[in-house]
Amino acid sequence: MENPFKYGGVVRGTYFADRRSEIAELKHEMKNLNRVFLVSPRRFGKTCLLLNLIDSLKRNGFACAYIDLNAFPDIRSLAAALTSGTSKALETNKDKLLKIFSGFQKLRPKVSVDQDGTISAGVELSFDEREALSALLEGMGHAETLAAKKGKKLVVIIDEFSDLEKYNGYTMEKALRSEIQKHNHIGYIFSGSEQSVMLSMIRDRNRAFYKLGRIMELGPIKREAYTNFILNWLKKGGYKIGGEGFARIFDIGDDVPYNIQRLCNVMWDAAAESRQIEPSLIEKLPIVIARQDSPHYEILWRSTSQSQKVLLIALSKDQTAKPFSKDFQLTHRIGPSSSIKASLDSLLKKGILYKTLKGRYCFTDLFMPYWIDYIKKQIR
Ligand SMILES: Nc1ncnc2c1ncn2[C@@H]1O[C@H](COP(=O)(O)OP(=O)(O)O)[C@@H](O)[C@H]1O
Ligand SMILES: [Mg+2]
Repeated sequence: MENPFKYGGVVRGTYFADRRSEIAELKHEMKNLNRVFLVSPRRFGKTCLLLNLIDSLKRNGFACAYIDLNAFPDIRSLAAALTSGTSKALETNKDKLLKIFSGFQKLRPKVSVDQDGTISAGVELSFDEREALSALLEGMGHAETLAAKKGKKLVVIIDEFSDLEKYNGYTMEKALRSEIQKHNHIGYIFSGSEQSVMLSMIRDRNRAFYKLGRIMELGPIKREAYTNFILNWLKKGGYKIGGEGFARIFDIGDDVPYNIQRLCNVMWDAAAESRQIEPSLIEKLPIVIARQDSPHYEILWRSTSQSQKVLLIALSKDQTAKPFSKDFQLTHRIGPSSSIKASLDSLLKKGILYKTLKGRYCFTDLFMPYWIDYIKKQIR
C-alpha cells in the first residue's frame, strides 16, 4: 500500500483531511456570490482547500476558474489567463469558445496544438503592454455577461492575491475593485499567505479593497478530525499504536497541516516493518525530516553571515524568545540590539524566519531548528 500521507503538492479526495466546515462555509458564501478574503500563513492548506472546494462546487453545477498570481509575471499574461479561464469554465464547446475569443477588442484568439495533438484555444494581448489593464477588465466584464447569459454562477478564485502589489500597484487595484463591484453573477475568493499585506489591503480605508468582502482566517485542521483521518489510514495499513497514541505529532508539528503530513509520512515509512507506532518513534520523526532536507538547509546556512548564524542557533534553542530582550542577549551572549535588528531583517528577507502578526520571529521551516541542533552535535 502506498504512503497515504502526501505533502508538497495538491492533496485531493481521500488523501485530503477534513476541512468540512470550511468547505461548507465557502460554498455558502459562493452560493450567495459573495467576496471572501482567505488568509493564513503559508502551508496551512489554502491551495488544497480551494482546489477541493472547486471539485465540490463543480459537482453542484457552478462554473469555476482558478488563477495563481504567482504564475503570471505581468498584467498581460494575467489578462490572457483569467479571460480564457473564465470563458472555458462557462463554455465547453470549442467552436463557440473560439467565437467568443474572436469577439474581444483587446485580446485575440490563440490556438495551440499540444504534444499529444489536442488543440487548445486561448487568448493573447493583441496590442502593446499599455492596453494590458483594459484587456484584463474587458475579459472580466465579459465573464459577467457570459455567466448571466448562461444562467450560471461563476466562482473566480485568485490565489496568492498578496502578489497583486507586484503589478502596477494602486491603479490596478482601483480598476479591479470597480469592475468586481459591477458583477452580479460572480463570487470571488482572494487567497493569500502574506497576512500583513492581505490585511492592510482590506482593512486600510485608503486602499481599493477596503471592505470589499469578508475576511476568513484559515486556522489549523481540528485535531479531532485530523486524528480520525490519520487513524483511518493507519488502520487500513495494519499499524498498531502503542502508548499515548500520536497526539504529540500535533505539538511537534505546531498543528500546521504541511508539517503534520510530513511527520505522518515519515512515521508510516519508519514503522513499515514493525507496523508498530511507539512514542519514542514519534519523538525521532522531526530529526529524520531534518536529515532528509539537509541539502536544502545547507544552502540556506551558507547564505547567512556569522552573526546571523549565531542568532539562528540562539533562536533554535529558544523559539519563544524575544530577541531584543536583555535576558536573551545575555544568555546567548549576543547583541547589541541594532546588530540583532540587522540580522533579523536579513533573515526575514531570505525567508528563513518570518514575523508573526504578534511580532514574534519564527522559523519558516519548523524542522530547521532540529537540523541546526543536529549539525551542532556533529561539530562537537
Ligand atoms: N486538508 C489537508 N489534508 C491533507 N494535507 C493537507 C491538507 N491541507 C494542507 N495539507 C498539506 O499541506 C501542504 C501545503 O498545503 P497548501 O494548500 O499548499 O498550503 P498553502 O496554500 O496555505 O500554502 C500540502 O502539500 C499538503 O501536504
Ligand atoms: Mg498556496
